[in-house]
Amino acid sequence: MNSQHLHYLKAMDIDVWVRKDRPQQDAPLVAVDHQVAVVAQPNDTALQLPPGLSWDQLANTVRHCVHCELHQTRKQTVFGVGNLRAEWMIIGEAPGADEDLQGEPFVGRAGQLLNAMLQAMGFPREQVYIANLLKCRTPHNRDPKPDEVARCASYLTRQIEMINPRIILCLGGIAAQNLLNTDSAIGQLRGHVHFLGEKRRPVVVTYHPAHLLRSPSDKTKAWQDLQLALATYAQTEPKPA
Ligand code: URA
Repeated sequence: MNSQHLHYLKAMDIDVWVRKDRPQQDAPLVAVDHQVAVVAQPNDTALQLPPGLSWDQLANTVRHCVHCELHQTRKQTVFGVGNLRAEWMIIGEAPGADEDLQGEPFVGRAGQLLNAMLQAMGFPREQVYIANLLKCRTPHNRDPKPDEVARCASYLTRQIEMINPRIILCLGGIAAQNLLNTDSAIGQLRGHVHFLGEKRRPVVVTYHPAHLLRSPSDKTKAWQDLQLALATYAQTEPKPA
């Protein structure tokens, strides 16, 4: 562990115990759980996006989306932000008040903690791609309704296909349950590697940063999740140049 990592772990308020009698390994060896998973299945309400959309066309489609009632209460849509050639994709739940105002995911207090978590891993915000399950804020930040998730799912599915990340880090139980199409609680979903879709893209689940702000004692477990993600990433094939 280098001094920069220690700096960011401190920023995350995580106590780090470093044994002085032997060198530290940056990434642990992990057992990989071969659970098969898929993005929410298309159904009657899912939007059928035309094949071959460019990134800008997809972003524009989202900008003008009126496919669910959330368009009536949002200030603006929040498509996503980051490096279009990213190897890491970070998936949250839905924009909050700050994101609804600024049109960018994770710009509030939870976003600052997410930035610290990404820095601690050595993949700063600018290097990754960050998106949400829902592109619109829910009224009073209530949980997304299944119908809203189903109507919005095609956007995230297409974003994942186009970014083609080596690994997905999924933040929080709601994003994870919908992405992985499961009812399991976050306590069961974290600590394993899941595989998404036919490409069997690895997904690691951790606590949502907003949860970590409310329950800082879970930051140590979150750091273990990030180490699992790093170790998993190291086992994936590099993206074609
Ligand atoms: N929480 C999320 O899940 N996403 C955001 O963009 C902001 C807060």
